[in-house]
Amino acid sequence: MDFELKTLAWAEACRLKCDALVALVTEQASGGADPLSRLVQEARKAGDLETKPGKLLHAYRADGISATRLVLAGGGDGSGKRVQAAIHAAMASLKGRAVKRLVICLHEAAQDDALRAAVTATAESSYVYVATKSKAEGRELQRVTIATPAQQPGHKQTFEAARAAAAGIEYARELGNLPPNLATPTRLGEEAKKLAKAHALTCEVLGPREVERLGMGSFMAVARGSEEPLRFIVLQYKGAAPSQPPVVLVGKGITFDSGGISIKPAGEMDEMKFDMSGAASVLGVFRALGELRPAVNVVGLIPSCENLPDGRAMKPGDVVTTMSGQTVEVLNTDAEGRLILCDALTYAERFKPAAVVDIATLTGACVIALGGVRSGLFASDDQLADALLQAGESALDLCWRMPLDDEYGDGLKTNFADMANVAGRPGGAITAAKFLQRFAGKFPWAHLDIAGTAWKGGAAKGSTGRPVGLLLQYLSMQAAAPVATKTPRRKAAAR
Ligand code: BES
Ligand code: MN
Ligand code: ZN
Repeated sequence: MDFELKTLAWAEACRLKCDALVALVTEQASGGADPLSRLVQEARKAGDLETKPGKLLHAYRADGISATRLVLAGGGDGSGKRVQAAIHAAMASLKGRAVKRLVICLHEAAQDDALRAAVTATAESSYVYVATKSKAEGRELQRVTIATPAQQPGHKQTFEAARAAAAGIEYARELGNLPPNLATPTRLGEEAKKLAKAHALTCEVLGPREVERLGMGSFMAVARGSEEPLRFIVLQYKGAAPSQPPVVLVGKGITFDSGGISIKPAGEMDEMKFDMSGAASVLGVFRALGELRPAVNVVGLIPSCENLPDGRAMKPGDVVTTMSGQTVEVLNTDAEGRLILCDALTYAERFKPAAVVDIATLTGACVIALGGVRSGLFASDDQLADALLQAGESALDLCWRMPLDDEYGDGLKTNFADMANVAGRPGGAITAAKFLQRFAGKFPWAHLDIAGTAWKGGAAKGSTGRPVGLLLQYLSMQAAAPVATKTPRRKAAAR
């Protein structure tokens, strides 16, 4: 889908020929004399139009308006969050209509957050999965014009960033939604190669032999139960001087998680195809980086394999040796995410990173803790945590900080190895993070548990593309204010 940004007063927007025009009506709506403004004033006076987000008023071939369909959409105070809600409502009301050409008129005072939300919310609500359907229906929308009455200095840049983010999010969703027989580790490797070629990125895809040579005994143990060969993907985007230490993103790439020998119940097991959402988000971020080219260095690491039961599969009780040399007793083969991430975290050390952020659909416990609204954020470094929290707020891709007190790690003790891969059920998202932290001592580290946010279940089942928006916002903040600041990094106290 094509997005364009135009500076257009409402009077001019009235004359745009299109299939649908969505006009944001905020609390401060202006009192212009053009047909659109007059319509808004009359409707509001009559009490037929509220400015609350979600409230809509439709018109067909309205007088003085060239658009076939007009949707007046309450936009509240005009903030990003309200604009997002307004556009979701307006787009839902246009579902099934033959809208190829759409114009969205923002309010006079639209700031960067509103513009960003307009682009990402439009892209989000018009996405339709067709990859494995026999007919590609529902993808009519071709061109979206975002019209702002007053162009502000940052608008152009914000718009370009939002457009690239939307493309990255869509790409992550598409990969996430693919069935597990297609989205294999091999396919993810091919996608990374394709991305690298199209966007001048560096890409290396390692297979079983190279991974064995690296000593990733933990990652290999997870892959052992599957016929699909594992892949370890290394992507690099170089936007800043080589002397700038990179941000390393590590994405969990389990393309199907059956639980292994500790097998999961059958109900909803299909949703474990989404267990590569962390990997998909890293690929989505790189796609956007390739388009935007911000002044920052980024490395993407993706350990990818299936977790299946088999005669050769790892068993409860097995002890594996990680790349770091630490040994792990596998008490539950379903806690496989941490077993592949730990080796990727050790591999990350070689980049002498400014920060490492891993992204993983890691625990059902995180879904219980935070539901589908906010991702779980764990960090060993307050500055990194604050930056990620703030990025999430700006991108409307929220997260919430969780604790890392050392006592939470006590349950990982075992008599037979340096640690076990699971503790008890209480605080399961935190004990998983404590496990990872043992492999992240050499750099500022954060962990995003996206188990609740990466996909939706039920009738709206599908990937969300989160947290591509958050990560891109964070990375562009790093480009604006380089990672190597003069103030010494604060270590997190007892977290
Ligand atoms: N991929 C799952 C986590 C998951 C479960 C995400 C449900 C979303 C919904 C992960 O590999 C897993 O199975 N975790 C276990 C850990 C447990 C064995 C300690 C879990 O959460 O049940
Ligand atoms: Mn699992
Ligand atoms: Zn998993």
